[in-house]
Amino acid sequence: MLDESAQLDQKDELAGYRYEFYVLHDTIYLDGNSLGLMSRPAEAAVLRVLDEWRRLAVGGWANQSATPPWFFLAEELGRSMAPLVGACSDEVIITNSTTVNLHQLLYTLIDCPDSDEAQRAILTDSLIFPSDRYAIESYINTYNVARGSKAFTHKTIPPRKNGLLNDEDLIAGMTPDVTAVLLPSVVYTTGQLLDIEKLASEARKRGLLFGLDLSHSIGAIPHRLNEWGVDFAFWCGYKYLNGGPGATGGLYINRRHFGRKAGLAGWFGSNKQVQLSMPDALQPADGAGALQIGTPNILSMAPLSGTLQTILAAGIDRIRMRSLLQTKYMMSLIQTYLQSTDLQLLTPLEDYRRGGHVAIAHPEAMRICKALKARGIVPDFRTPNIVRLCPAPLYTSFTECRVAIETLTEIVHARAWESISRETPIVP
Ligand SMILES: Cc1ncc(COP(=O)(O)O)c(C=O)c1O
Repeated sequence: MLDESAQLDQKDELAGYRYEFYVLHDTIYLDGNSLGLMSRPAEAAVLRVLDEWRRLAVGGWANQSATPPWFFLAEELGRSMAPLVGACSDEVIITNSTTVNLHQLLYTLIDCPDSDEAQRAILTDSLIFPSDRYAIESYINTYNVARGSKAFTHKTIPPRKNGLLNDEDLIAGMTPDVTAVLLPSVVYTTGQLLDIEKLASEARKRGLLFGLDLSHSIGAIPHRLNEWGVDFAFWCGYKYLNGGPGATGGLYINRRHFGRKAGLAGWFGSNKQVQLSMPDALQPADGAGALQIGTPNILSMAPLSGTLQTILAAGIDRIRMRSLLQTKYMMSLIQTYLQSTDLQLLTPLEDYRRGGHVAIAHPEAMRICKALKARGIVPDFRTPNIVRLCPAPLYTSFTECRVAIETLTEIVHARAWESISRETPIVP
């Protein structure tokens, strides 16, 4: 008789995709929401680009035997990725890093207060990823320094006592002084999925710009950005998109903003027809491509082109279904085995409020992570007290989910962290 996890594996329609990935030997990898594993199609795509570079050299930019010619790769990837975010094909471009894309979107879309007296704020949650916070605050600072004013501010909404954000609190924060709202689709610590449709609609009713950091949902959760009226979004390529360390990021800009001048300009934002004639004045591309800056990093875009084929073939709706089943399964095991311990499940139980990972809080979270790693399980730690466990929907099996929680249970019951040093830093 098979145990429940083996039965779930047997029924699993997506189980075969695991073999497209280089699954680590003797390791249960639950950190695909930090860096996705390498896939064979990603590897093949990198090797193909290396071969093109070797054979074609500079000719790779235009040569039809490069696939596609490098000059058009960002647009081509944008078109392929658009269905993952529910956008029109020209609303997405694959470019820059996550943080650079946020800077670009802020400088392009936000109309700064035109009077020094008018208070204006960018609204976010207080749990926002540090790099987003730094980008927003540096944008605000640049504005205020230029005006010799303090009129522009960053307003944050804290979570409730349970550590979760509340939609009504976020909506109540959309006061008349707010000019733009930036939220994560999924909170990187707790794994909470926000009600994007409702929040976008409330922001629109108030005439506010509404943007999203999709780093923890792209490739794991379907989105309908255009239909929801989201103004802008950005994401990284190295988590559920499995694009490799530092893979090129992506951005979406709603069509209603086409034609706005890029806040940070560069020649790759040009209309492709005229770019190489090097005009003195920038003639921008029509769509999201106008927000590119410099030469695309072809080697860091190549793996994305390989891995995207896998994601599109598996289908984002099926990926989401499997991810929900796996996180639900892990959470039910946690509730069964770890109920009367110091361990607290942070991630919401309801499917519609949960992203792709399970977060648990424990005062010894860091040493628990080290103990898991010592037993061949790779979680990740988020300061001060969170263990994140991510079953990657394309390659983690249900059996691995079970073994990970059983191992965690052993560690917690035996207080196995007591023999582990707090001193050695945990990386990353
Ligand atoms: C939610 C979120 N936003 C932004 C970033 C920053 O991304 P990058 O370092 O690629 O600019 C990260 C990185 O992990 C992230 O997790």
